[in-house]
Amino acid sequence: MKIVFATNNAHKLDEIRRILGNRFEIVSLEDIGCHEEIPETGDTLEANALQKAQYVYDHYGLSCFADDTGLEVEALGGAPGVHSARYAEGTDHDSEANMAKLLRELEGKDNRRAQFRTVICLIGTSPLHLSHEGGPLFFSGSVSGTIAQSKSGDGGFGYDPLFVPEGYDKSFAELGAEVKNKISHRARAVEKLAEYLHSLES
Ligand code: IMP
Repeated sequence: MKIVFATNNAHKLDEIRRILGNRFEIVSLEDIGCHEEIPETGDTLEANALQKAQYVYDHYGLSCFADDTGLEVEALGGAPGVHSARYAEGTDHDSEANMAKLLRELEGKDNRRAQFRTVICLIGTSPLHLSHEGGPLFFSGSVSGTIAQSKSGDGGFGYDPLFVPEGYDKSFAELGAEVKNKISHRARAVEKLAEYLHSLES
């Protein structure tokens, strides 16, 4: 079964292919010749994931899933949330600037609790059935933790050097891919997607 994953992020593709196994052919945007910038203008993770999956479905007629992730910090009312990639003003996916801003915003705050949350939206043609109401399907995953006082570790990406998952005393960047991929927000969402896809086959 061929499904487009609306990304060109090699790390994400790798992770998803490992979880889904080889019963599904997961192809990237590049693989289907989609080189345009897909709009991501929603104000929730759900809206953005839907927008991306819908775009591929409408323009290429292929079953597709898309993800959107945000870091939600309790003391900041859930920010940066859906704006995680562009948290530092005037930047885009500048992790260093985003982390510096996050540390500034949390200065003097005792509550450093946070969660990463991933939402995946799946839109498909038979046998990837849409939900009973005929709409897209959503799968979400989250991991709770705290924002450290300073960065540590050089693995991972994004906010990983600052995020210490619950039950650990090291950041995601220090823990490395093997641990992270077992407990991460994205892994948990992908596992729910995999469970659904596998249920279609039985
Ligand atoms: P995206 O939805 O995957 O593009 O993620 C939006 C932003 O959230 C990225 O630019 C990263 O800064 C951050 N992010 C997403 N996933 C992770 C993660 O697993 N670790 C750390 N930061 C992440």
